Amino acid sequence: MILSLFGIDNPLILPEMNKKHSITICLGSSCYTRGNDVNLEIIKNFLQVNGLKDQIDFRGHLCENSCSRGPMIKIDGTIYYEVTSSQIEKILLDTLLPSGKTVVSL
Ligand code: FES
Repeated sequence: MILSLFGIDNPLILPEMNKKHSITICLGSSCYTRGNDVNLEIIKNFLQVNGLKDQIDFRGHLCENSCSRGPMIKIDGTIYYEVTSSQIEKILLDTLLPSGKTVVSL
């Protein structure tokens, strides 16, 4: 099951072709309680602060049976396992802003 994380996008009518990047975050109970609750807020804040909210297809999904390697997040098809809150900003910077675009501090 895929969930829209900004609450306004219906995945059935999203203009997918206009999205440059995609992020999916596991919201299953294991990943969520082991760090994705915080990672979710960090990602939402990062996208908002950097004006990327409308350029990223950001969704959540339920457990994908990789709980032992969670929290897991997928960005542009690459799965990141055991993502901590201290790692997520660097992952976002490296994947979404690799050209060194100015970032407002979170
Ligand atoms: S809860 Fe994330 S893989 Fe199971």
